[in-house]
Amino acid sequence: MLSHDIPLPPPYRIRVVEPIPFLSPRERREAIAAAGYNPFNLRADQITVDLLSDSGTGATSSAQEAAAAVGDESYAGARSWFRFRDEAADLTGYPHLLPVHQGRAGERVLFSSLLRPGQICVSNTHFDTTHANVELAGAEPRDLPCPEAADLDSAEPFKGNIDLAALEQTLAGPDGPRVGLVLLTITNNGLGAQPVSMANLTAVQAICRRFGVPFFLDAARFAENAWLVREREDGYQELTPREIATRAFQLADGCVISLKKDGLTAIGGLIGLRDDDLFARCEANLIATEGFSTYGGLSGRDLERLAQGLREVVDPAYLAARAGQTARFARMINDAGVDTIQPAGIHALYLNAGRLLPHLSPAEFPGHSLGCQLYLDGGIRSAELGSLYLGTLDAGNRLVSPAPFELVRLAIPRRVYTEEHFLYAAAVLGAIAKDPERIRGYRIVSAPPVLRHFKVRLAPLE
Ligand code: F0G
Repeated sequence: MLSHDIPLPPPYRIRVVEPIPFLSPRERREAIAAAGYNPFNLRADQITVDLLSDSGTGATSSAQEAAAAVGDESYAGARSWFRFRDEAADLTGYPHLLPVHQGRAGERVLFSSLLRPGQICVSNTHFDTTHANVELAGAEPRDLPCPEAADLDSAEPFKGNIDLAALEQTLAGPDGPRVGLVLLTITNNGLGAQPVSMANLTAVQAICRRFGVPFFLDAARFAENAWLVREREDGYQELTPREIATRAFQLADGCVISLKKDGLTAIGGLIGLRDDDLFARCEANLIATEGFSTYGGLSGRDLERLAQGLREVVDPAYLAARAGQTARFARMINDAGVDTIQPAGIHALYLNAGRLLPHLSPAEFPGHSLGCQLYLDGGIRSAELGSLYLGTLDAGNRLVSPAPFELVRLAIPRRVYTEEHFLYAAAVLGAIAKDPERIRGYRIVSAPPVLRHFKVRLAPLE
């Protein structure tokens, strides 16, 4: 801060830009109809502001591209691997590190080496691919979010926490011997980008030690979680985000990280481990399926960008600017009459579509309707997190049990959009909020049996 009321701008300026398209309303109507009303089926050149994901969508820096230019593509023992490994070891403190091409590859390698069929993986909330990879390992994913997470409007600072009482009960109860892993997602992407406190992580470590269960982090947004700890948790104001992140990694037995988020790169991931035997099993699996253990599916140029990205992402000036950008976007949206999960996290905002569109029942997919309307009215792409994604369907693809909330996620790519893009998106939402009753629901035309939201096709209700 320069003074009390002058926030600093982001610590970078933009020198390489990419044009974005503006389609006519008719072109957008045709595009979304041809996509089966599924935003995942749209072409990127049909989208004006793309808030589908913050994963792999960030801008790289001049320093990252300069590093990439000297990337070493040796099959084994590349210079770039050692540069990346040293950065990641310094940040996480784990003695064993394995590169992977993205987070879900790390999940597959870790879970297939650690979990046995019939075991349970307990989490604050599993991300969708994490959930799927636990199941593919023959184990059962079980979510135990803290009770505060159920109140979307409260200002509780750490609604990403796991429910400690429920975790202890599970471990002490009849299912206890079956729990093979406790995995905390920081920040909690499935539940409003809410952070996990250091107090919660410390308590989970103690509980897991007592019951002899491995405790891992799904640390895709480790820097953003550290920033929110510094902002919201007593006792962390004097530490740097990097120091806080390191302390979080220290509490766990290992981690799996999608570096497409806080690695500030288009691709990349990491497994961090302490246990020698588990490392040997994971390494054998990695070499057979991802690549040799000094590149793991990544190019030397990717490893260089990652090494530099891990430094840039913990810069307090960068994190302050990014958190401020999201908080201002949330205020614009709330002022326009649309509620979002409170308090605002960093990587995404979650619109309360159920509340905005009470005339639509969950079976008419209000979150999906709002997402389609954002595209139809403004060329904005978002992701539904409601009954289309999480509800249970019958054989005829009719909804039988709805999701707890009808949400739409607006994910915020790193260093990509400016304040004007957010003003634009908030204005499009504001116009929808003025006349929400005109918005129709949707019905499912066809849906795949697993990871439904990626390939489902829908049609508007008359
Ligand atoms: N864990 C979390 C918490 C995630 O958010 C993601 C991806 C993954 C694991 C998987 O990582 O994509 O590199 O394989 N999240 C993206 C998103 C896709 O849009 O939230 P990946």
